[in-house]
Amino acid sequence: MCGIIGFTGYLETKNVLLEGLAALEYRGYDSAGIAFFHNDTINTIKTTGKVSSLIDKVAISADVSSTCGIGHTRWATHGGVSDTNSHPHTFGKVTLIHNGIIENYHELEMEMAALGKFPVSQTDTEIAATLIDSYYEGDAITAIKKAVVRLEGAYAFCILFADEPEVIYCLRNGSPLVACHAKEGSVIASDMVALIKYSREYFVLPELHIARLTKENITVTDLNDNVFTPKMLYVNWDVTAAQKGGYPHYMLKEIHEQPESLRSTIMPRVKNKQLPDFTADGIPDRIFDGINRIIIAACGTAMHAGLVGRVMMEKLLRIPVTVEIASEFRYQDPIIDKNTLLITISQSGETADTLAALRLANEHQATTLSIVNVKGSSIARESDYVLYTHAGPEIAVASTKAYTAQLSCLYLIAYHFALIRGTITEAQCITYTKQLQSVIPAVEKTLNLAEDINKICINLADKEDLFFIGRGLDYALSCEGSIKLKEVSYIHSEAYAAGELKHGTLSLVTEGIPVIALATQTKVYNKMISNIREVRARNAFVILITNGDCKVDASIFDYHITLPELADNMAPFTAAVVLQLLAYYTSVHRGLNVDQPRNLAKSVTVE
Ligand code: F6R
Repeated sequence: MCGIIGFTGYLETKNVLLEGLAALEYRGYDSAGIAFFHNDTINTIKTTGKVSSLIDKVAISADVSSTCGIGHTRWATHGGVSDTNSHPHTFGKVTLIHNGIIENYHELEMEMAALGKFPVSQTDTEIAATLIDSYYEGDAITAIKKAVVRLEGAYAFCILFADEPEVIYCLRNGSPLVACHAKEGSVIASDMVALIKYSREYFVLPELHIARLTKENITVTDLNDNVFTPKMLYVNWDVTAAQKGGYPHYMLKEIHEQPESLRSTIMPRVKNKQLPDFTADGIPDRIFDGINRIIIAACGTAMHAGLVGRVMMEKLLRIPVTVEIASEFRYQDPIIDKNTLLITISQSGETADTLAALRLANEHQATTLSIVNVKGSSIARESDYVLYTHAGPEIAVASTKAYTAQLSCLYLIAYHFALIRGTITEAQCITYTKQLQSVIPAVEKTLNLAEDINKICINLADKEDLFFIGRGLDYALSCEGSIKLKEVSYIHSEAYAAGELKHGTLSLVTEGIPVIALATQTKVYNKMISNIREVRARNAFVILITNGDCKVDASIFDYHITLPELADNMAPFTAAVVLQLLAYYTSVHRGLNVDQPRNLAKSVTVE
């Protein structure tokens, strides 16, 4: 959350910053701003609203050139959405942008007030500018280092000092910053999508290290002034992967990218098209030795992937698996020891609560394995082992292709380690792995249902409440269907284990209430049909989703979506695509901003 970019080099800075902010806008979009040097003076332009508003404002007010500056797109935490609270913030000689939260800002504010220094905004960020300025006596690094000792919380800063035109100082603690040096100059940003235009090679600024960017180079030092040589990373996607590619929205593009993201995630891990193999990922076969408990910790959609993974893992590995909401996990005094395997799942690899769960597990000597999309992200770096999803950049705030890629990793883990543990035979493992590969063409086929689903969604556009129901894997999937729909369509929705409805929630089912009923699992199919009859008897508007063409009594549904037939365990992949499309088209019919839903942002780096 909050997008940051800094550039110093040989290009017109305003253009670099505005382009970078447009690419980073999914990280926050309630206000935006830039600050840049012109004739050795810092100019700041900021505004509430989207980056497009900033572009308009810059066009009117800043017909001046610059080759060094910083830019920010905001997701408000402290202080409402206003021009004043927008970044960059300046105090004295210091102008900075910030991603994160300064937790002790109130205490620092009182201290600064006692010195006669009064910020003008309501943000926690301005107090950081004030603090650094209070320590500044002509040496930027000394001032930053003194401020670090005082600041509590998570932060990534890009800082301009009025005395040093053409130079940007950066610091991070918790919130991400990646940087590259290219022929055009030096660039730093919260995310690779803003850098990719300049280089596919980059590095992650380590925590509590200071980067000094000039046109010629980037130097990184730790807080004891030791020079640090960063390890360079390489992304295997290019600038087109982070563009809409002819789709009206990123979400639709990313839904359609799922056959490819599944192929890239699954196939390199299947040896001779037969058995899963994690040799190239460096995950040893002995990882489950001595493990008597698996905990999956994640947030939101990633946590929902864990719910599906739990079912598969427990069934095949015969080890108890629990799924924990990462933001709750560490406050529950969880039982973790060296016999625990903690699996964290995260698209961004930066989600603060998931990272905190991982750190807690590391403290307790648990084995940690993460399923992450962003290379070199904090969660990836701090885990014992990483299994990367190769979904490519996910720009829409609503996670889609990352979810199915996460599922495929969880399935591969379940298959491989069940074979190693001897809880399934090699023949079974080969069959399951083949079934997983069959998901790729099936997802492709499911995408052909898009137009039918679009038409069904016309019926949902004016609804205010909606239910998803399912049993077993379908219940886990219902949770994902529900979050997807509510986040992009703003329709209140709930996911229910179908058998649980009559223990309370059925009282909310009245005439015309949409119920999206997932009935893809043979084992509970008849029971599911009975549950659908219960809601139908209350005149619910039923959209039924089945795996293959089941013979269903036509009186129990209004619409029937038939998925390409797969083994039951594989239905979550195709059903997920249908649920994503339902959410997408409902949002479009309601005329909403699908890619940037209100109040949300991607990569939740605050707790
Ligand atoms: C929902 C969504 C969020 C994320 C959650 C975790 O569509 O995108 O619920 O899944 O914020 O994010 P990551 O996977 O980056 O840890």
